[in-house]
Amino acid sequence: MKISPPENKFLEELLPKKPVLLMGSGPVPIPKEVAAANSIVISHLGETMKQIVSRVQLMAQYIFQTESKKIFGIAGPSSAAMEMAISSLLWPGRKVLVLNLGTFSARFGEMARGVGAEVTELFPQGLAPIYASQVKEFLEKQSFDVLTIVQGETSCGVKNIELEQIVKLAKAHGVTTIVDSVCTLSTMPLPMDEWGIDIVFVGGQKGLSAVPGISLIAFSEKTYEFVSSRTERMPHWCLDPRRAYKFWALGEYHYTAPVPGILAMHEGLRLICQEGLEKRYQRHLFCSLTLQHCLEALGFELYTPKEFRLNSVVAIKNLNQVNTKELITYMIQQHQVEISGAFGLDIIRIGQMGEQCRLPNIEKTLRALVAGYEHFGVQLDHEQGLFEFERISNGEHDWLSHHYSDSLGL
Ligand SMILES: Cc1ncc(COP(=O)(O)O)c(C=O)c1O
Repeated sequence: MKISPPENKFLEELLPKKPVLLMGSGPVPIPKEVAAANSIVISHLGETMKQIVSRVQLMAQYIFQTESKKIFGIAGPSSAAMEMAISSLLWPGRKVLVLNLGTFSARFGEMARGVGAEVTELFPQGLAPIYASQVKEFLEKQSFDVLTIVQGETSCGVKNIELEQIVKLAKAHGVTTIVDSVCTLSTMPLPMDEWGIDIVFVGGQKGLSAVPGISLIAFSEKTYEFVSSRTERMPHWCLDPRRAYKFWALGEYHYTAPVPGILAMHEGLRLICQEGLEKRYQRHLFCSLTLQHCLEALGFELYTPKEFRLNSVVAIKNLNQVNTKELITYMIQQHQVEISGAFGLDIIRIGQMGEQCRLPNIEKTLRALVAGYEHFGVQLDHEQGLFEFERISNGEHDWLSHHYSDSLGL
């Protein structure tokens, strides 16, 4: 039977009539420079590409805060970078300790089982991060080859506040560390070399404000050396770092590189370097605290306690059991603002990563949220919430500077 083409439909007919502001857990809005770069295709091999790739690595060294030159891009989501890390270090007979805070940190375990490793999971006590004392107990009882940890668990809005101590503890026990910085890199400090992290990875679609579908991974020189000398067969061809090295270090063919993605990543990283990490961290902290403060003034309760609250994705308790799917759809359709629901928890989540951290975007989101809840019969303290926002926009930082004057530089 012959298959005929479907009726012609232009993309414009499928896209929303008005652009939607992406204020969920990612992807996030992109700057115009990133959008322009993402529309260019050049040859993936040759001098021009080689120069672009080496600039991407140079800028990534700054953002990861590492001197290691073993930084590779991956044509794939952050999960592909996670898979490269896992499959490089684990195989049957190897043991991994997975610090499991939820959906994303659990993924490490799923992947490790997939390559035949022995997986031990360590869970937090309730809604909490995992503390160094818990890890210490495990490391003293059993031996592990690898430890995996997420800096920020996007699914529940918890930050692993003792990441640095945990990584150092692992190092002292000769355990290699893999850190997921997918929703945190460039939004808060993660100095790879200073903390002694062995592998860090990130996707393009969150703090970097580049595009989804391209990721970066950094191996410490020592870890790369270990991986390159392994004799076990590598389970993945695309995700073999030794093959990625061919393209990322030598400019040779591995697979046809995701050219527009690399160019977009270049622009995302360039804008971060231009802004400077310190200033960027402050912008993220300031915007996230502004959002949190205004949400509380509106009458919301934040899901995660302040001591370990993740600022890059803020989890908020749903009110009056409103159907969050319907709420989100209403906000998109009526106010062109998209926020996120959650995986099984009665919360909503608002992102504060990259371009989301701009006061006009926060104001638009707060207004859409108020309108959304009011549509479903929940009255919020509209006036107080928006009054607080106005006050902050006019430069009144008393409430913030009281607590955070050093880190915000106010
Ligand atoms: C902390 C964290 N890790 C991993 C992932 C997976 O990223 P991707 O969907 O790009 O594979 C996400 C996605 O939201 C995330 O938030």
